[in-house]
Amino acid sequence: MKRFDYLVLGSGIAGLFFALKMSAHGRVAVVTKKNQAESNTNYAQGGIAAVMSKEDSFDMHVRDTLSAGAGLCKEAVVRVIIEEGPACIAELMKLGMEFSTREVPAHAGEIELDLGREGGHSKRRILHAKDITGREMEKALLAAIAAQPNISIFENHIVIDLITTQKLGQRGENRCLGAYVLEKQTGLVHTFSAPAVVLATGGCGKVYLYTTNPDIATGDGVAMAYRAGAPVANMEFIQFHPTCLYHPKAKSFLVSEAVRGEGGVLKTMAGEEFMDRYHPMKSLAPRDIVARAIDSEMKRSGADCVLLDITHKPAPFLINRFPNIYNTCLQYGIDITKEPIPVVPAAHYQCGGVVTTVNGETEIPGLYAIGEVCCTGLHGANRLASNSLLEALVTARRASQAILAAHLPTYAVEIPAWQSGKATNADELVVIAHNWDEIRRLMWDYVGIVRTNKRLLRARSRIANLQDEIRQFYWDFLVTADLLELRNIATVAELVVDCALQRPESRGLHYNLDYPEANPDWSQRDTCVRKAP
Ligand code: SIN
Repeated sequence: MKRFDYLVLGSGIAGLFFALKMSAHGRVAVVTKKNQAESNTNYAQGGIAAVMSKEDSFDMHVRDTLSAGAGLCKEAVVRVIIEEGPACIAELMKLGMEFSTREVPAHAGEIELDLGREGGHSKRRILHAKDITGREMEKALLAAIAAQPNISIFENHIVIDLITTQKLGQRGENRCLGAYVLEKQTGLVHTFSAPAVVLATGGCGKVYLYTTNPDIATGDGVAMAYRAGAPVANMEFIQFHPTCLYHPKAKSFLVSEAVRGEGGVLKTMAGEEFMDRYHPMKSLAPRDIVARAIDSEMKRSGADCVLLDITHKPAPFLINRFPNIYNTCLQYGIDITKEPIPVVPAAHYQCGGVVTTVNGETEIPGLYAIGEVCCTGLHGANRLASNSLLEALVTARRASQAILAAHLPTYAVEIPAWQSGKATNADELVVIAHNWDEIRRLMWDYVGIVRTNKRLLRARSRIANLQDEIRQFYWDFLVTADLLELRNIATVAELVVDCALQRPESRGLHYNLDYPEANPDWSQRDTCVRKAP
């Protein structure tokens, strides 16, 4: 039994920021299924939205967030998160994070933050570190953590399930006590216990065939919280990023919205601009609109992709502002200073998740969720670009304060060690690989950017069959990381479909041809799923 005061699952910005805050108050375990730097955060290019200039205001940022969220954001939550942004940014900078700066125009020698612009923002308010913001944040946070003896990082450890009093067969309130965790290299299953367990596991892009997310984004937090009995909301709102590099050898490479923020224009393969037919903000319209417009242009023309053209900007500017995008595209033979970039939409961000307060509190005492895995009400039906890292920081900070204020008791409950029973090594691993592919493809084909009831129902029945097979596999064979991730993506796929079927309208990221309009009865209404006890 590994006992800690705080158990953090996930090592992205939310988990690491939280761990740092709590290290002054007790022993913290950070469990991460790959190496400590491998997280969704690490791949964030664009940056973090915050009100940092005199020309901007909290009200304007709130207005842009509400407008992107298509009527479903919780305004009080939006306001808290936006207003606490600058303080969190200051803390991050104190920890060593360096954002890009520029010379103040007409004030030679004076330096200010170089604020970028992205879709749906009425002002320049994106703090960034060139186009590798997430990587730089992870670096700064991990360096700060290395100096904290109270924090232990468990790499290559994947959570099997949360341990709750209900699962242990106890009566009364269902409280979270810890987690069973598989050490990937040895196959040993460890029991971690802590009065506060914090899900910081990120999103679920890998549920879809095409995604900008890294391999780790298998929705583990949502799946395990659901299995533990926590309500999960708004999973139909999967954000498709409009511009993922289209190249047979490029896997999941994002071309940041900041490229459009700096003037990049979307064009058809024939070189024709098309976004003016869809929205007055053209290529910088909110993401749901841009992704749908690209999907519709691709379907209309039969083309495999569209083009993102920024060749009108000077080459030295592009190379300096987007070094990562420039170099990566060049590796694939595309010189972005001379030719347009072929792009397609891909699954990018989960706007719904485990229902929490703005402090990351779930309905299960002792269980918290912060960052992409949680659903605070900030994003509504469509996340405003670069609001996610902001939410990660603010929910981490507020969860740390809430946990300290709660004086959580240590429960003197005997937690049994993990039982493998008569499970043996799996004989046909091909089943796991096949089911992975099947889920991801059916989600792409039936539960993608444009949905219909028929496609959703078809997806539901296929997923139910796959779930049966996976359940049998799970009970018969010793658990492996691949099997655990498969089980999680199947659960998350089911939740996305169930939420999509609950919503009889089109709103934000959820577009259903059977109900092409928003239904006023559903404005302000979240969809919600909860496992039957
Ligand atoms: C991007 O750089 O386009 C991604 C930013 C975000 O998803 O918020």
